[in-house]
Amino acid sequence: MSYLKLMIPGPVYVRPEILNIMSSSQWGHRDSEETPKRLKPIKENLKKLLYIENINYEMIISTSSGTGLMEAAILNCVNDEESVLCISIGAFGDLWHKIVESCGKRAVRVSFEPGKAADPEIIEKHMKDEKFSAVTITHNETSTGVINPVKEIAGIIKNYGALVMVDTVSSMAGVPIPVKDWNIDIVVSSTQKCFGLPPGLAVGAVSEEAMRKAETVQRKGTYFNFLTFRDSNLKEQTPTTPNEALIDALNFQLNYILYEEGLENRFIRHSKLAQKVRDWIYIGHEGFKLFPSIDVASDTVTCIQHPPELDKNFLKSELRKRGYLFDAGYKKLVAKGYHTFRIPTMGDLTEEILDEYLHSIDEIIKKK
Ligand SMILES: Cc1ncc(COP(=O)(O)O)c(C=O)c1O
Repeated sequence: MSYLKLMIPGPVYVRPEILNIMSSSQWGHRDSEETPKRLKPIKENLKKLLYIENINYEMIISTSSGTGLMEAAILNCVNDEESVLCISIGAFGDLWHKIVESCGKRAVRVSFEPGKAADPEIIEKHMKDEKFSAVTITHNETSTGVINPVKEIAGIIKNYGALVMVDTVSSMAGVPIPVKDWNIDIVVSSTQKCFGLPPGLAVGAVSEEAMRKAETVQRKGTYFNFLTFRDSNLKEQTPTTPNEALIDALNFQLNYILYEEGLENRFIRHSKLAQKVRDWIYIGHEGFKLFPSIDVASDTVTCIQHPPELDKNFLKSELRKRGYLFDAGYKKLVAKGYHTFRIPTMGDLTEEILDEYLHSIDEIIKKK
C-alpha cells in the first residue's frame, strides 16, 4: 500500500525509522521490567522538552488524542459551581469552550477576530470583572496559523489566582514552551503534530497547584483522573492499557529530538521552514497573502489567504496524483469571507520535502 505525504496540519509525515519501531512493539504494560524502561525516560525527556526538569509537575501520558487531556483538565480542576474563561482566536479556542460547557461548568468565551492573537488587556478586563477558577487558551491556533502570547496572558491570569490551562497540540516539540517560566498549570498536546508521530497518544504536565485542586474536585470520572495518573506514575506505569507502539515511538523520538537533532536545532528548523513558506507566498502568487499579521504568525502552520477564484478542488486532486494530501483551509473561515489554505511545517518535515511540495503547487497553479 502506498501512502500520501500528509501536507496537512496533523497528522503529519512520519519518518520510516519510527514506523519500523512501531511495527515490532510488543510488551506487557504491567511488566515491572519493561514498562519503567520506557515510561521513566519519556517523562524525564518530556520535562526537558518543557524546561521543567527538577520541577514538580505531574507528567501525564494518556492513550487518547489531545482533546481527551483538554477534557481531563476541566474534569479534574474545575468544580461544578465554578466559572472558566475560554479565550478563543479560532476553532480550537472554541473547542475549549465546548468542552467546558459539555462538562457542565459555566464557561465565558472571549473571542478575537480570525487571524488575530488574543489581546492581554481585554483578558485582564475580564479577570477584573469576574471570578474565574481557570482560564483556557490555545497556544498555537491551527485553524488560522496564529500564535498567542501565552507568557504575557498567563502572567496576568496568575495575578487573579486562576489556573492556566494551555492547549499546545500544534506547538509542543516545534517551538519552545517553558512551562514553569510562563506560569502554566496544565499543558496538553498530542503526538500527531510537532512530535512527528502518528496519532493516538496525548501528553501533559500538571502543576502542583492544579494537582492540589484535583484532590478537592468531586466526580472526575475514571479514565482521566489525574490522581490515578499520579498513583500509576509512582509505579512507572499508566492507569490503563496504553498504546504501546506509540509509547515506543515517543520514547525513540524524544531521544532523537533531544540528543540527535537537538532542541534548539529543531525549533530553528521549524522557524526556517515557516519563513520559507511565508517568503514563497509573495513570489509570483498574485492575490496571495499571509492570513495573520506577521508578528503573530505561527512557525508550525502557515495560513495563506488567496483569491476566491483559486480552484482548490483542482489543486487538491492534482496534488493527490503527485502523492500529497493538501489542506484546503478551515471551512468556517469561508463563511466569514476568508478563503485560505494551510501549509504545515511541523514535525520532521525536511526542507527537501517542503521545496518539492511548493514546487508542485506552483506547477499546478500555472498549468490551470
Ligand atoms: C490547536 C489544536 N488543539 C486541539 C486539537 C485537537 O487535538 P486532537 O485531534 O489530538 O484531539 C487540534 C487538532 O488539530 C489542534 O490543532
